[in-house]
Amino acid sequence: MKKRLNKIYGDTNAWESFNSQLDILKPTKIFILTDENTKEHCFDVFLTKTTHNHNIHSLTIPAGENHKTIVTCLHLWNQLSEMGADRDSLLINLGGGVVTDIGGFIACTYRRGISFINIPTSLLAMVDASVGGKNGVDLGNLKNQIGVIKTPNQVIIDTAFLNTLPPDQMTSGWAEMLKHGLIYSEEYWDKVKNFTNNDIEEANNLIWESICIKNEIVTEDPYEKGRRKTLNYGHTLGHAIESYFMHASEKNTKKNELLHGEAVAIGLILETYISSQLFNFSKERLDEVTTIINSHFRKVEFNEEDISEIIKLLIYDKKNKGDSIYFVLLNDIGDFNINCTVENSLIYEAFDYYKNF
Ligand code: GLY
Repeated sequence: MKKRLNKIYGDTNAWESFNSQLDILKPTKIFILTDENTKEHCFDVFLTKTTHNHNIHSLTIPAGENHKTIVTCLHLWNQLSEMGADRDSLLINLGGGVVTDIGGFIACTYRRGISFINIPTSLLAMVDASVGGKNGVDLGNLKNQIGVIKTPNQVIIDTAFLNTLPPDQMTSGWAEMLKHGLIYSEEYWDKVKNFTNNDIEEANNLIWESICIKNEIVTEDPYEKGRRKTLNYGHTLGHAIESYFMHASEKNTKKNELLHGEAVAIGLILETYISSQLFNFSKERLDEVTTIINSHFRKVEFNEEDISEIIKLLIYDKKNKGDSIYFVLLNDIGDFNINCTVENSLIYEAFDYYKNF
């Protein structure tokens, strides 16, 4: 039996709850935001689930993190305006993390805020992006620098959408589930480290457990004053790595862009190494984390220059205050410290550990 959550529906009645919400909201117009992929693979499925088939308008953005920009927002605001969206219109975000992040931001800003519902179709969006109300866009190659916090009217979880997802996107989302294990409990870590798609029911239970962990944390600390910072575990370095590779690939160097989860997975190894050095996180556990991640995620090479550029990008991390760069670090699984400072020499050492493991 799944634990019930306020506003997040993931059981067999999820679509019924969605249709009831539409009965309550009585939107003047319904706008469905997709990217090119979810327009092709998920939009028609969505239409079969809703009993509200009139006054539906489709908005589609190109796929990919590099379109999570204010320029894309301008197009969407204009389209909404031209299509006659008013304050009682509803925006439904049907897609992965980029769609739920940018769609939430559009809904929060168009006419100072309209209702929105997230229907995540990727694993990453289900267990992370669609829950907790962080909405926004990137600024150049800096992730999530512009945005607002507002929770959606509803989140509908239907894991059948995951069947449309390429395997690397599943692995990318799993990185966030591994993070939930590390910051939350040994019990969940021990289950989630063996996550596979082979047993659908078990996979669904683990996904729901991850959503419950995220929901518990963001409900306690919606504006990230304390505990919510733990959700950034692995992300301080992970985001800097992701930004660095996004920028490097645009400049046509030989570096390929990394998926968010791929960068976070490396960040988890690096920050667990730093935890082992500063807070005695067990060496055996550290090696276990590294072994699990390295056996599922591709190994990335970093040279001295890459690392120095990545360290420079840390200054833009959203947890920082003034010139201090703050990390979340662990004493043990589920036992965390927030607002930790780390010498650059230890960051270089962590990259050495990753390289030589
Ligand atoms: N993705 C981290 C958070 O929602 O706080």
